Amino acid sequence: TVGNSTNIKWQECSVEKVDRQRLLNQKGCVIWVTGLSGSGKSTVACALNQMLYQKGKLGYILDGDNVRHGLNRDLSFKAEDRAENIRRVGEVAKLFADAGIICIASLISPYRVDRDTCRSLLPEGDFVEVFMDVPLEVCEARDPKGLYKLARAGKIKGFTGIDDPYEPPLNCEIALGHQETGTSPMEMAATVVGYLEKKGY
Ligand code: PPS
Repeated sequence: TVGNSTNIKWQECSVEKVDRQRLLNQKGCVIWVTGLSGSGKSTVACALNQMLYQKGKLGYILDGDNVRHGLNRDLSFKAEDRAENIRRVGEVAKLFADAGIICIASLISPYRVDRDTCRSLLPEGDFVEVFMDVPLEVCEARDPKGLYKLARAGKIKGFTGIDDPYEPPLNCEIALGHQETGTSPMEMAATVVGYLEKKGY
């Protein structure tokens, strides 16, 4: 039995993860970028992907905003839908890692338990949690999409950080600061790349 399904068997194939990784000359993993809206997740994800590309490493970004246009277009921002959003992206990220790709998932992913579930899908070390440690005041001052303003005006209900919780990681692999303290997105990406190199990815 697999999950809730009966009569389903796991299908094996002779080309395995190790073979794909050899072909690509890299190790597949998941870089999970979490943080408030406007904390710079997408910017850092993009800078990281660019830096990996320049080093000849294949990355692929799963961005919350983008995934919600397709795969997760049926999901709202209520708690159970956010959980389902994270669950699906976690499963897709696992597939990308299995394909040998460095998968960069960039979502608010506000609830710790959902992030921890995604972590548990992967072998030890293959899930790297990156926390955009940016205070709400900074994100709100940036307000790149004008959403905080709408949330404060009560025009968006259940906005993360305003009237919906964000639970910061307790044991993330990497915590990044923000541009206002003088660190550029490229420097933040370099921190992640440095970590991956140290860990042999
Ligand atoms: S979550 O919580 O992980 O399911 O969110 P995610 O899939 O990353 O989507 C976050 C983007 O959706 C926009 N948005 C909201 N965010 C938070 N709360 C509410 N209620 C909401 N409604 C819309 C917002 O633009 C987020 O984009 P980012 O890139 O994080 O700023």
